[in-house]
Amino acid sequence: MSETLERWGSKRAFILAVTGAAVGLGNIWRFPYVAGENGGAAFLLIYVAFVLLLGIPVMMAEILIGRAGRRGPMQALGALAAEAGATPHWRWLGLFGALTVFCILSFYSVVSGWSIEFLVASVNGSFNGASAAEIGAGFEAFLANPGLQIFNHSLFLFMTMTVVAAGVAKGLERLNNLLMPLLYGLLLLLAGYASTTDGFGTALAWLFLPSFEALTPSVVVHAMGHAFFTLAVGACALMAYGAYMPEEQSLPRAAVAVAVLDISVALLAGIAIFSVVFAQGMDPADGPGLMFVTLPIAFSELPWGSVWLSVFFLLLLLATWTSAINLAEPMVATLQGLGLRRSISTAIVALSVWLIGLLSALSFSTLAEFRPLLGRNIFELVSSIPPDIFLPLGGLMIAIFAAWVMPRERVVSALGAGENGYIMWRIIIRWVSIPLTFVVLLAGLL
Ligand code: PFF
Repeated sequence: MSETLERWGSKRAFILAVTGAAVGLGNIWRFPYVAGENGGAAFLLIYVAFVLLLGIPVMMAEILIGRAGRRGPMQALGALAAEAGATPHWRWLGLFGALTVFCILSFYSVVSGWSIEFLVASVNGSFNGASAAEIGAGFEAFLANPGLQIFNHSLFLFMTMTVVAAGVAKGLERLNNLLMPLLYGLLLLLAGYASTTDGFGTALAWLFLPSFEALTPSVVVHAMGHAFFTLAVGACALMAYGAYMPEEQSLPRAAVAVAVLDISVALLAGIAIFSVVFAQGMDPADGPGLMFVTLPIAFSELPWGSVWLSVFFLLLLLATWTSAINLAEPMVATLQGLGLRRSISTAIVALSVWLIGLLSALSFSTLAEFRPLLGRNIFELVSSIPPDIFLPLGGLMIAIFAAWVMPRERVVSALGAGENGYIMWRIIIRWVSIPLTFVVLLAGLL
């Protein structure tokens, strides 16, 4: 397959596209609940450190491979490996990425489906006047309803795959332009409201004052996985977007901008959610339902609550949509690279993700007791192992490829940061990011 000539419309469009991939359930749904289960501030501290030390440098490595290769991930890796005189087996890394996003999209679609249900419920005013206990019980009942779980999962996946079928670059540019500022504004408003509640002080202390007894090896492993997940790094998904990057853009600047935006969205969501958790005397370690229960409670206390809540779920849905499109792209690109038509590739991906996603959709009802591994059901498995293990493993290989295998001049030009920027990046990725990821992964697997 030859090099693509397609480019994002502008530098800003590229940054927005990567932000669209990064900001999603990871920031607003996953961060609060994983932080809740892993001691709050200790987790936050390590996760931010990992974003800086691993996430940003590996993101640059991933995007620069795409930019230098200007093809789908498998083909880009294969072509660049050949150019460097290295083994063509590097292209299997693209396939591993596709497998990772496959697993992730299968549960991502189910949870995004919950946003559809909650959007409809808030438009209907179903949360008006409901108590915290009623909202919690309503969520449990919804999870336990197999028909609704399957319906919403199917609807969300359909929404995603229709955009993917049409080709991503054009449609996404417009959506991202509007979506990110709106989502950010609404989260600011929510965090502002949270500062007036009784739980605000406790929430800040819980999020920002680490207690180091809470710092166990498993917290470190989860924090690393989450750093990769939230930035959308490690699955060759951003590599696919890098292929369309404009020629004259600086990659480090773009990566830092995305990471800052991404962390701040998570922090705003965390402050809003944990203020409600503590004001209502709830348990921060309540698991995947945390956001879906706390935010309806918070909004129901605001004037025009159900309007704000509807807008929030709409924006959340759009944010997960742009991430899901990014998750689907490498799989479709891979199949296309094998010579299939785009429409056929999209249909194959859609059908197989839908089928495997059913296992997650039913993990709260029919299949709740089907626990094939480590005592966990399918939802618990696919929402932890691919983010915590597969993404860092993929990220590690991507980093090794960019830092040790690719010829120097190729990297310098694809990084777009001059000779000094390149040297700094290379020192960090070779001597910090790669060894650190390796050690934490090994500790996690042992
Ligand atoms: N970064 C996305 C989120 O935070 O919701 C999830 C994600 C997208 C992970 C793309 C991995 C990926 F390749």
